[in-house]
Amino acid sequence: MPEKNDLMEKVISLCKRRGFIFPGSEIYGGLANSWDYGPLGHQLKQNIKTLWWKFFVTSREDMVPMDTAIIMNPRVWEASGHLQNFSDALVECKVCHKRFRADHLLEAKGIVPRYAKEELQDLDQINCPECAGDLTAPKNFNLMFKTAFGINDATALDVYLRPETAGGMFVNFKNILNVTRKRLPFGIAQVGKCFRNEITPGNFIFRTREFEIGEFEYFIKPGEWEKVFEMWLGEIKRWWQDAMKINMDNLVWHEIPETERAHYSKRTVDIEYKYPFGVKELHGIAYRTDFDLSRHEKVSGQDLHYTDPETNEKFLPHVIEPTFGIDRMLLVALLEAYHEEEVDNEVRVVMKFPKYLAPIQVAVLPLSKKDELSGPAKELAADLRKNFVVDYDETQSIGKRYRRQDEVGTPYCVTMDFDSLEDKKVTVRDRDTMVQERVEIVELTNYLKEKFNF
Ligand code: GAP
Repeated sequence: MPEKNDLMEKVISLCKRRGFIFPGSEIYGGLANSWDYGPLGHQLKQNIKTLWWKFFVTSREDMVPMDTAIIMNPRVWEASGHLQNFSDALVECKVCHKRFRADHLLEAKGIVPRYAKEELQDLDQINCPECAGDLTAPKNFNLMFKTAFGINDATALDVYLRPETAGGMFVNFKNILNVTRKRLPFGIAQVGKCFRNEITPGNFIFRTREFEIGEFEYFIKPGEWEKVFEMWLGEIKRWWQDAMKINMDNLVWHEIPETERAHYSKRTVDIEYKYPFGVKELHGIAYRTDFDLSRHEKVSGQDLHYTDPETNEKFLPHVIEPTFGIDRMLLVALLEAYHEEEVDNEVRVVMKFPKYLAPIQVAVLPLSKKDELSGPAKELAADLRKNFVVDYDETQSIGKRYRRQDEVGTPYCVTMDFDSLEDKKVTVRDRDTMVQERVEIVELTNYLKEKFNF
């Protein structure tokens, strides 16, 4: 395996070379820290989202899905506090005018930032990391992207690209209650794009200005929060262990102390990951009390109370909110999958994704390009496409083709040779063990389905 420092570079290079992720707007010189998901990256992201959706939403009777607007009435952000508080402390170098997040500069010097973040202390010990110049005092920088809604300059409304998906679910709480007749506890889930004008984006897709979140608001009776929080922590563990199949030693469960928690949160756990560039947040779970519904009730003037059908008691539900950064999960999937192995005195790079996450599931590789073989091989590929994501490749030696498929994590390569025309069998090679098995063509779909656990 590569050294930790090399791992990031190797993964980024593989992503670009094989079409997982490209630098954004590249032919125009790029746009700093923006990334485009290519054919394999898009499929991998889709597979992660589908797995997440099945795990946390459709396999449960207590969850309902939503897909809400990215641009919402700006009063939503007034109620949630984003207009007032969704900011980071920014400092600027007085000499080179580069801008930095004050807390990141402190952390880089091993100083634990003392909160409130608007009044970070110890900054006098720090100079510009680029040119050693003096820094300005920190000032609050709101991370929301502002834009104009409407075509008339005079009347256009200042609106914001959503910085999280949660707001859309809170403002629809009553709608969902009315149409689904759900009783507590239940959750509303969605996956979607979010936008934050980050001061220091970086580390590939770890921190970007446009990214996807999968999150849910789980509404509960106030007295039940501790039990439900534990239940979701357990589910999150199961997600990483059984669904994403990562090495659990790479996760750090960080209980956020009261001094660093939002004032309304009674418990927050950040699930951190040991990235090659340090231990940093992967995603989180927070108990938010009734802060969100009470704020939306106050600012909108609408009654958002819930009536318990058994006791007729009227109250504002409390909320537990697990949130997952989709792009960070994808980064973790890439880092966990990357393996280098020595095979026949050569380095074999193999992406050992869980098989059901792999962007290409099956590759069909005829041993010759001659029509006699490529015809039936193409027919076989077309047939397999009814059930699997299939690649067809007939160029270069079979060894090279295996390596190409290993490098993108294809779990099964199906090789058709001239014997196949006689015995109606193909050779199936397993990505991880490299063991080859001869399988009847008529049995192939079932054989592969079993392997993928469909
Ligand atoms: N509603 C709660 C919420 O938005 P958050 O911790 O601010 O919580 C949720 O964001 C998750 O979104 C993070 O845990 C992280 O996985 C992801 N995330 C946040 N900012 C990001 C960024 N700039 N780039 C990529 N992912 C980001």
